[in-house]
Amino acid sequence: MTIQIRPVDPDRQPDFFGDVTGVDLRETLSDSDIAAIEAGMDRFAVLRFRDQPINDAQQLAFSRRFGPLETATGDIIQGADRRLPMEVNDISNVDKDEQVLARDNRKRLFSLGNMLWHSDSSFKATPARYSLLSARRIPGHGGNTEFADMRAAWDALDQDTRDLVRPLVCDHSQIFSRGVLGFTDFTDEERVRWAAVPQRLVRRHPVTGRLSLYLASHAGAIHGWPVPEARMLLRDLTEHATQARFVVAHEWRVADLLMWDNRVTMHRARRYPADQVRDLHRTTIEDVAPTLAQGM
Ligand code: OGA
Ligand code: MN
Repeated sequence: MTIQIRPVDPDRQPDFFGDVTGVDLRETLSDSDIAAIEAGMDRFAVLRFRDQPINDAQQLAFSRRFGPLETATGDIIQGADRRLPMEVNDISNVDKDEQVLARDNRKRLFSLGNMLWHSDSSFKATPARYSLLSARRIPGHGGNTEFADMRAAWDALDQDTRDLVRPLVCDHSQIFSRGVLGFTDFTDEERVRWAAVPQRLVRRHPVTGRLSLYLASHAGAIHGWPVPEARMLLRDLTEHATQARFVVAHEWRVADLLMWDNRVTMHRARRYPADQVRDLHRTTIEDVAPTLAQGM
């Protein structure tokens, strides 16, 4: 098999959202295939692998080829109640016994935060580089995942706004993003675990050199700014960055795997019927350092 990566929609978005063929993720890939995927990530930022019926062990083995994995300290279920290993984020609406969560279930309500535009783990000091999301079970309709190209969003900003935002540093926390939805019942332990961390608002990609906005619903403050003014600017930038021209929607099939670069994209889940199972497993590659420790 020969690996090939082509744009899903060459006319509308030639350099965003690529489709990868010619690999079987159940097998150990060659170093040159891994290098081709990394190059595809640098160009497309989001890659789709169709028909990859993998298990967690295979997903972990493939993911580890790209660097150290995060542990799922951002999940609300920790310890003995977890359904999945600590290196797999549980992106599902089922409990340990595979029962669909009740409407008022705390994990379910917390997970609704994934429907806000975000970048994974921007609330961690060293945030996420790549995320890999594997569809195990999907609902009959709804539940798409959408991605926004934050490089294109940067390129489309006027010069005054670029000059304004370029030096800014934001505070990110899951307490902020869940607060947007009125979810505030955090334990003391969670408040400590998810204390806010600083992140640059504008980043430079280490390989391509392109600048991009680094936004997420987790961002709730800008250093040196009054909070309402900060949140208004963040809202305004998010609205800009998520215009239809910068966005793609992925309609899931079972055994799809999507891989995205959190440094240059945002994503969100869309609504689906609450009584149907949606079960996706996410592995996440750590970035190399906090954004403030990375060059601009
Ligand atoms: C994630 C995420 C969106 C979705 O896995 O990080 O935000 O559609 N998922 O489930
Ligand atoms: Mn996410």
